[in-house]
Amino acid sequence: MSVDPRMIHLYSYYRDAELRGATLLLKLIMRVDDTEAQMKLSRHLADETRHAWLWTKKIASMGANPVRVEDGYQTRIGRQVGIPKTLIDLFALTVVVEERAQRRYIEHSRRPDCEPETLTILHEVTKDERWHIGWIMDKLKELAAQNGGETKMLATLERYREIDRRVVSEMIAKEREAFGFSFSDAPDDDPVVAAAL
Ligand SMILES: [Fe+2]
Ligand SMILES: [Fe+2]
Repeated sequence: MSVDPRMIHLYSYYRDAELRGATLLLKLIMRVDDTEAQMKLSRHLADETRHAWLWTKKIASMGANPVRVEDGYQTRIGRQVGIPKTLIDLFALTVVVEERAQRRYIEHSRRPDCEPETLTILHEVTKDERWHIGWIMDKLKELAAQNGGETKMLATLERYREIDRRVVSEMIAKEREAFGFSFSDAPDDDPVVAAAL
């Protein structure tokens, strides 16, 4: 069976996003003092590296190696966000990229043509993202409340979300060029599929 190189690229993009998500967590681990957050960050980091491994294994099962991703989601986000300076910036950025990962994985898993092995991975990683978003958001709110920085936190989240939407629409356009559709497209264009959802 011949392997579609576009799928190797797609899974390499997912792998890249997980690895860069882990890099962001390592930055947080080096800066956060409280022990409870250290525990959670450690578990969270272990999850993200496991997610990267799941995509790597998927690529290997197709008889391929991961390809280098120079223009992935996080790289594009990073170019526009600049270097996050404060802990609030780092936590807010983590919330936004986690929300995007979860949303994208759910969108992909809704495709009726998603093969079972990929679906299993998508469900596996989505399950963890729920916990990730929850605890990071709680910590972000706690930090903002301590410093009286709620307004700034909301403004930072909004700024990052706006950048995220822009980046994702660029990537979706690129995906449509390659595949003729996006894996984020809602399957409810097809009434039969929509009825089954
Ligand atoms: Fe992940
Ligand atoms: Fe995550």
